[in-house]
Amino acid sequence: MVSPKNSEDNIAQPLIENNSFLPQYSSTEPTNVTNGSVLTPTGSINFNMSFVFSLLVSFGALLFASTVWYIASSVDYFFFIWHPTLMAMVLLMATQGSAVLQKAESRQEKDASLNFHKLMQSITFLSVIGGFYVTYTFKAEGNKEHFTSPHGKSGLITFLLILIQTIAGSTLVNFPGVVGGAAKARGMYKYHRISGYLVLFLVWLTALGGTQADWTKSQFDHLWVWLLAAGMVLVGTIGGINSNKLKVR
Ligand code: HEM
Repeated sequence: MVSPKNSEDNIAQPLIENNSFLPQYSSTEPTNVTNGSVLTPTGSINFNMSFVFSLLVSFGALLFASTVWYIASSVDYFFFIWHPTLMAMVLLMATQGSAVLQKAESRQEKDASLNFHKLMQSITFLSVIGGFYVTYTFKAEGNKEHFTSPHGKSGLITFLLILIQTIAGSTLVNFPGVVGGAAKARGMYKYHRISGYLVLFLVWLTALGGTQADWTKSQFDHLWVWLLAAGMVLVGTIGGINSNKLKVR
């Protein structure tokens, strides 16, 4: 049976309207989409490189975190296991929360990714406090000295820097009056961005150190997995850096 024709059956109408909930690329707004083209026998294929770099970052961070969680789930349960479990969450959230800002182009995407960034960094903040508390109390209960290994030392510094970075970022966004108003706060975003990359680098360095601690190596000793994950994130993050956004002047 053929359905009666009505005025809504207009085949010239697009299936997807210019909906406001979908990311829009405004022609008046400058975009920084970098396209890479690869020559194939049937012609050249264009890639949106910022998307390729963000995929690389996501897969690398997921590989690292899921390997830690695989180790945590395969050993007999003891309280300390929450340390690597929560710190893997820190690494995943902090990495994803930074990558999402890199690929934002339009105003709408920037707003949406800032919200995602806040959520990811809030989870990072809570997880790092939890992860630090676990390892600290675990050692204290065993009457062991604190911050003796290189991982423990860089872990303490990384922990403190994550706290400072999150509190500073949240102040700029939520209480711009503290630094003299919204315009001044926005002008300080670039410093937050630069210190953010530094903290992210330290998070990865510290986490890599954790994978080389005696206990971790006794459970899982495949350095190449950690290096592959870190390498993917390094290439993806450096590739996705928009040098214009990093300019301090
Ligand atoms: C950003 C991530 C991480 C931070 C900030 C961090 C922080 C710390 C700190 C501060 C300590 C020393 C605690 C004390 O001496 O009281 C520690 C110990 C330890 N962490 Fe982590 N950690 C992180 C990731 C990891 C990961 C991913 C693993 C394992 C895969 C791990 C495994 C260990 C082990 C086995 C110890 C005890 C041995 C030692 O002190 O070196 N950590 N961590």
